[in-house]
Amino acid sequence: MTQTLLLLPGDGIGPEVIAQVRRVAQVVTPDLALDERDFGGISYDRHGVPITDEAIATAQASDAVLMGAVGGPQWAGVERSKRPEMGLLGLRKAMDVFANLRPALCFDALADASSLKRELVAGLDIMFVRELTGGVYFGQPRFIETLADGQRRGVDTQVYTTSEIERVSRVAFELARGRGNKVHSLEKSNVMETGLLWREVVTDLHRREYADVTLEHMLADNAAMQLVRQPTQFDVILTDNLFGDVLSDEAAQLTGSLGMLPSAALGAPGKPGLYEPIHGSAPDIAGQGVANPLAAILSFEMALRWSLGRAETADRVKAAVEAALAAGARTRDLGGSLSTAQMGDAVLGALQGPSRAG
Ligand code: IPM
Ligand code: MG
Repeated sequence: MTQTLLLLPGDGIGPEVIAQVRRVAQVVTPDLALDERDFGGISYDRHGVPITDEAIATAQASDAVLMGAVGGPQWAGVERSKRPEMGLLGLRKAMDVFANLRPALCFDALADASSLKRELVAGLDIMFVRELTGGVYFGQPRFIETLADGQRRGVDTQVYTTSEIERVSRVAFELARGRGNKVHSLEKSNVMETGLLWREVVTDLHRREYADVTLEHMLADNAAMQLVRQPTQFDVILTDNLFGDVLSDEAAQLTGSLGMLPSAALGAPGKPGLYEPIHGSAPDIAGQGVANPLAAILSFEMALRWSLGRAETADRVKAAVEAALAAGARTRDLGGSLSTAQMGDAVLGALQGPSRAG
């Protein structure tokens, strides 16, 4: 049966980087059907909503979904429920992709591009497992109200249930077994009820099913500090939606370039995953053809591995990216001068044979 990958190029540099994924896919997976829909601001402009019901249904029926990026200053004034970012949250919820895998990997060729010293980041390989469909991002009630005295009051709700914590923790423990066998679970159990519950549920699950994995609990603020003090102490980091959002950006910067990092959002086994480069829409460089397409290409690589059952092809793509970097291919964010398409050329060249890399 033909597999389908739904592409959601989105806004900003999204279409530019997804165009390079298309080129790679045509070479390594000519049998894969590529579908495409509007997403984010462009969808709002064309259809009045950041994602249409039809696009959501198509995503749910695909084998995997790969997005570019959403958002930009031109949609800042749009009513909140129709903002590009709300399309992304809606898609995550509709696809029920509760486990967000965000590798923070320091490519050896790029260790000098980190804002930390090379010796602190060399060999860095952290896997963030961020809970993605719960917590304060979705908790009810949420509103802004005007009080009798004329003040305004904003309310968000952080909420987690046992099963929400358990299912994402399971993903973290399973992943750890295939890596360094260590999980750091982060929360603020010293001040938050959800943090306390998080710690208890993770401890319990660990004792019942994953006692062979090393588990350490760490307060999220301490983890933020440890990430810049000694980042290589971490293997798998398990945390909630908001802490995961913040700390995965911090970790991304440690690796030398945000333009390099892919991510995968996974749901129940057999359901399509949602893949995205974590760099966002980068409106400052959009349309210039200078964005680094490697995070998008590596997100495609994750889709091959985690949703499409094509681990060998994924290995090939990953090796080609590494070969292109080793041969000196650099976009502007990496201190080089290659255009987006030229970086695509470098990866395609490496795919066709190491002698032609770069
Ligand atoms: C991310 C982004 C999103 C988030 C935004 C665009 C809604 O920052 O994927 O990390 O906060 O989850
Ligand atoms: Mg973020």
